[in-house]
Amino acid sequence: MFSLLQEYFALILVAVLALLTSGVAAYRPFAIADRRRGRYDVSAFGAVGNGRTDDAKAFGAAWKAACEAKTSTVKIIVPARKSFLLSPIEFFGPCKPSKINFLISGTILAPQKSAYGNSYDTWLHFSGIDGLVVDGNSRGTIDGRGKSWWRKRPTALRFDHCNNLIVKRLIHKNSQRNHVSIDGCNNVEIANLSIQAPGNSPNTDGIDISSSTYLNIHDSDMSTGDDCIAINGGTSNVNITKINCGPGHGISIGSLGKNGRHDEVSGIRVTGCTFTKTQNGVRIKTWQGGSGYAKDITFADSVFKLAGNPVIIDQYYCPNSNRCPEKASAVKISGVKYLGLRGTSVAKDGAIQLMCSRTVSCDDIVVDNVDIKPASWGIPNTAKCTNVYGEQRLAYPSVTCLRKIND
Ligand SMILES: *[C@@H]1O[C@H](CO)[C@@H](O)[C@H](O)[C@H]1NC(C)=O
Ligand SMILES: *[C@@H]1O[C@H](CO)[C@@H](O)[C@H](O)[C@H]1NC(C)=O
Repeated sequence: MFSLLQEYFALILVAVLALLTSGVAAYRPFAIADRRRGRYDVSAFGAVGNGRTDDAKAFGAAWKAACEAKTSTVKIIVPARKSFLLSPIEFFGPCKPSKINFLISGTILAPQKSAYGNSYDTWLHFSGIDGLVVDGNSRGTIDGRGKSWWRKRPTALRFDHCNNLIVKRLIHKNSQRNHVSIDGCNNVEIANLSIQAPGNSPNTDGIDISSSTYLNIHDSDMSTGDDCIAINGGTSNVNITKINCGPGHGISIGSLGKNGRHDEVSGIRVTGCTFTKTQNGVRIKTWQGGSGYAKDITFADSVFKLAGNPVIIDQYYCPNSNRCPEKASAVKISGVKYLGLRGTSVAKDGAIQLMCSRTVSCDDIVVDNVDIKPASWGIPNTAKCTNVYGEQRLAYPSVTCLRKIND
């Protein structure tokens, strides 16, 4: 009996000592109470947040603890009013909790290029995680400090094989290359992002999507030096709503069929978007010589303000003075609807350009309720096309080159 009591006292003494010594550490120790509530504050794992110290290790430790937690929901907290410098980091699943909230209130800052080694493809990489929510609460910022990058540059924020993913309310600026990449993810919501990069920054796509299904992207502002949103092969069922794009290259499907690739894209709806001074508006671009399809695509109820190439299909896509000889095969484009598009164009080749493969026609193309005026004198009020079948109803400019199937 007596020795049992002694053992208890010894245990309590050890516990108290442990608490005291951990309290001496420079940061607030990760408390058991926090773990119980499923809260994982990166500061409690040693993140400093002074914008100079590399906090990647601390973020990694917080991630590991949260990912292995026994609670069904966990919160990883990046506190406000601090700037966390992170070298390239990977957050990998699968994780035990079914929901992981990554709450960013402060700033996550990329290191200057000189601080990197040779291998960098991605700066912040999330992979194989189900039920991830990245929430910036309208103040959390991802700062890629893209200016210091050149030539080989990483994607800032990459999600691959993350199902049931939500990314919202983030401010994301000056990515090194593309801002957000979504690859191999199903059921994704991306909302209320503010993506900001200068119009002359190279290849800074806003959101790049490939091999993913069921995406809902809405209510976001994107100023970039490249496509605001690019939809690549293997992607279907995407709704893009209320995106303000500009400057930037517009919203693109493709490029598809590069190097003879087989690409499939279907079920894309772009509605309620605004394109301001963009290089293109709504674009489908494919290379010569690919195969597969882009079908069931609707661009609706959107506005162009001084946009270049507001409506364009380009099946002869060949940027950067590549040499692209004409091929007999092409990604087949069909079932594309342009409905309720209006605004002003600065396109030198006309507001509507449907340049389809000379060997593989575009079929079932509908232009209705479209009214896009030249922004000034000297801008043509014309449409042009090659090898396009379908119909126009109300359209300005008139797309007389769009042929009915029996013409
Ligand atoms: C996103 O933005 C829209 C439009 O500004 C707003 O109605 C909605 O409440 C916002 N949602 C979130 C989660 O912030
Ligand atoms: C896209 O919008 C359509 C029509 O409103 C809706 O039926 C569909 O479920 C939406 N898809 C996604 C992935 O949000």
